[in-house]
Amino acid sequence: MKIVITGGCGFLGVGIARVLMGRGDIDAVTLFDRVVPDTLPDGLDNRVSLVAGDISVRDQVFALIDRDDIAVFHLASVVSAGGEKDFDLAMRVNFDGGLNVLEACRARDSAPKVVFASSLAVFGGDRLPETVTGMTRVTPQTTYGMTKAVGELMINDYTRKGFIDGRTARLPTVIIRPGPPNAAASGFASGVFREPLAGGEYVLPVSMETKMMVLGYRNAVAGLIGLMDADGGALGADRVVALPNNAYSVAEMIAALEAVAADKGITLGSITPKPDPATEAIVTSWPLAMDDARARALGLPADESLERVIGDYIEDFGSGK
Ligand SMILES: NC(=O)c1ccc[n+]([C@@H]2O[C@H](COP(=O)([O-])OP(=O)(O)OC[C@H]3O[C@@H](n4cnc5c(N)ncnc54)[C@H](O)[C@@H]3O)[C@@H](O)[C@H]2O)c1
Repeated sequence: MKIVITGGCGFLGVGIARVLMGRGDIDAVTLFDRVVPDTLPDGLDNRVSLVAGDISVRDQVFALIDRDDIAVFHLASVVSAGGEKDFDLAMRVNFDGGLNVLEACRARDSAPKVVFASSLAVFGGDRLPETVTGMTRVTPQTTYGMTKAVGELMINDYTRKGFIDGRTARLPTVIIRPGPPNAAASGFASGVFREPLAGGEYVLPVSMETKMMVLGYRNAVAGLIGLMDADGGALGADRVVALPNNAYSVAEMIAALEAVAADKGITLGSITPKPDPATEAIVTSWPLAMDDARARALGLPADESLERVIGDYIEDFGSGK
């Protein structure tokens, strides 16, 4: 089987590819991205090819989906704050790009599996219940969230028509992103760990009381792969699955970081709160809990603790010092 990962050189794409290297049923993995590195990221073998291109260019996407025994992780996306800055880009990449992926899969005879990375940002506003469920109305407050909500509906309808065998993961904020931040408004939920661990000062763009719904990246990757492996028939007509999640305040995140740092003898850099109204407006519109019973019933893993997520990051990426 061939696996195509759009946005494949990003945080989750590389993480998925690394885990797939352990499987004997996969003979080719293509990481398709707007920007690809000169060499393969660590942990990937010669089954992996890097293809530079733009998801919004139909011919490029059709050239990628070139076999019937194929599954696609569709991750390429303009992210939240990026979409607020550039509406046209968000529509082109997220909407046109998503349609290209679905149409290229529809052109195959095999109804390929498509795993779509959606987001908690399909929800928003001030009328949300404490815990959003699969039956809560989607009311996105960003263009990003709107494109994700439309993507979820298209995944369900292309599946209903038999064009694809789709699955949507509704992801909470995934932590801890290594390296430079992307344009996600949720970036502070990684930066508040990553930058002090590396010894630098972190300017926190939200207040200490701000809460965020999160999932550790190891379990986010496991959840996305678990959705690919899930029995489509058993998922039924609604292919949307909210991945496991927990909400923490920034103060709780910092307390967990300090506990792990003390345990490992790491001296942390400082954290200076300097709330940014644009960032706060986006993140405080999001819900703090998604009902994840469906994911748990599918066996998709949940985080044990925030301390464990921080420990996983240090194990996989080092402290950055
Ligand atoms: N990481 C999170 O916290 C989180 C939370 C909710 C949803 N998601 C969704 O999961 C997916 C993956 O997230 P991530 O954290 O790996 O993001 P990321 O920003 O690290 O990766 C996305 C990749 O898409 C690529 N891309 C952007 N425009 C493109 C284009 N026109 N053509 C081809 N590639 C393009 C980028 O270069 C980037 O490498 C995204 O769709 C994101 O919206 C992520």
